[in-house]
This record gives sequence, C-alpha cells and structure tokens, in this order.
Amino acid sequence: MSSAGVDPAGLRELAEQVARAGGDLIRAGLAEDPDAREVSGTKSSSTDIVTAMDQAVERLLRERLAEARPADGLLGEEAGYSPGESGLTWVLDPIDGTVNYRYGIDAYAVSVAVVEGDPTVDGAWQPVAACVHNPATGETWTAGRGLGAQLQPGDGSAPRELKLGPPPELGQALVATGFGYAATRRAGQARVLTGVLPQVRDIRRIGSASLDLCGVATGTVDAYYERGVNVWDIAAAVLVLTEAGGALAGLRGAPAGGAMVVGAASPLLEGLCDVLGQLDADSDPT
Ligand code: IPD
Ligand code: CA
Repeated sequence: MSSAGVDPAGLRELAEQVARAGGDLIRAGLAEDPDAREVSGTKSSSTDIVTAMDQAVERLLRERLAEARPADGLLGEEAGYSPGESGLTWVLDPIDGTVNYRYGIDAYAVSVAVVEGDPTVDGAWQPVAACVHNPATGETWTAGRGLGAQLQPGDGSAPRELKLGPPPELGQALVATGFGYAATRRAGQARVLTGVLPQVRDIRRIGSASLDLCGVATGTVDAYYERGVNVWDIAAAVLVLTEAGGALAGLRGAPAGGAMVVGAASPLLEGLCDVLGQLDADSDPT
C-alpha cells in the first residue's frame, strides 16, 4: 500500500483485468458480427464518430469497476462523469482510436486509468495505476505509481520493463501527433505542423493518443504532441510514460492537458515545447 491506503499494485491488476475484458468484448463482437464496425452516431462534428462497440465496452468497464470498487468515481468518454467518495476516479476510453477501429486499422486501444484528484481539471489529477490494451495486436501496457511501466507483447513473449534512454536531438526525433475533430482546430494544427515538420526527423499520425504516448514509452516514436485531447485519451498512457522515465508538459508552464500535451524524455521534451510555444500551438485560429 502507498499513501492514504492506496494500493497501486492491486489497482493495476484491476485496470488490466477490465481493459482485457473490454478487449475480449471487441474481439468477440468483430468475430460474430460483420457490422460491428458500423458507426452509430456522431458527437462534436460529423467526423467525431461513435460505434455501438464504444458504448458496449464502456458499459462493461463501468459495470465491472462499480462492482469491484463501488466507492470510486467513474469518468468515461461515452457516459460522462459520476463522482465517487473514495478520492479515486476511473478514467475510461473504451476505444481510443475509434476511426481506426471503424476502418479496421489495428491501432486502437482500451484505456483504463485510476487517478487521484479532480479528473475534470487539467493538472489537478495524478494517475495511480493504468492499463492500455490494444485488442487487435494484444499489446498491453501497464503501470503503477512507483512500480514502473511494463509492456506485454501481443505474441505471448515475455513482458518487459520499459525504461527510456537518452532521447535524440529534436532534428533526429520521430514525433507523433494527432488532430482534433473541428475544422477550425485542424486548420491551426495543419499550420503548426508546417512549422514542426522541417525541424524533426519525421511525423507520425497513428490515430490513438494513448498508443502514441505508449509508443514514446516503448521507443517506437520519440515524442508526441497534440492540442485538444481529453483526459480519457491520455490518463492511462501518461502513467506508462512517466513510469518509463519520460515526462509530460503543456506550453508556457501550463500542465499537460486540453490546451496542449507534449510527451518525451528530457531534454527533447523542453526542445519540442520551445518550438511549439514559438508556433503558438496552444491556440486555435481566430
Ligand atoms: C482520438 C484519438 C486521436 C486523437 C484525437 C482523439 P478517439 O480519440 O486519440 O488519435 O488525435 O484527438 O480524440 O476519439 O478515437 O477516442
Ligand atoms: Ca474513444
């Protein structure tokens, strides 16, 4: 147990159990129903889609967590916020990378984090335990506060502890990023991209913020930045990255969050933040 009776190891186990159960539901749904990738609605814009699977997985995660931890809060992308009484909140993205899921691209994840503090305010929450599970590849990242970060490969080979080495210089860095769903924001993100691209090795737009951050923790990309992410996109992967020795920041001293999240090992993190700050990457076109 750590401070105030919080048990990161036990919470990590539960996070993994429910994330894998969500992944099983997705795999079973795809095996049984050729239409399981169909879009059932849209949210903030016509490209911000939701499928029946997003909703079914979130229902399953909520049921399992409410049963196991009735005093904890729940905050999920599809069903919103139900505050709890324990000081802990489970932050859930049933499918992070829904567009990839829809198109059959194997880069989406069930993201489950448990955080202390207020998950509705950037900088006011701290993750305690987390799991990011990619049901298509089987790759599963776990982390617990003070317990390191682990990757269980999808091929059943041995799990490995993640430990970041020194990062490359900015000019040699492979940088992941993502784009929002609103046209105005995307116009701003495209402008920022034209400023970043000449200064880095290359850019990747993988399509799942949690997998981007886990990619930084694993070393398959060197850094990640994005404006406009929600807490459920990043809460679990933030812990994976920090426990692997990386760090997160916003711009101009702000905490990582909706305005901007940048993740990398130092000093690449600071170098990328400087470039993004000069490009005003934390604001939208007026
Ligand atoms: C999205 C993905 C994407 C990122 C968007 C997120 P969703 O999450 O993480 O990579 O660029 O900002 O909204 O909608 O697939 O859960
Ligand atoms: Ca989602």
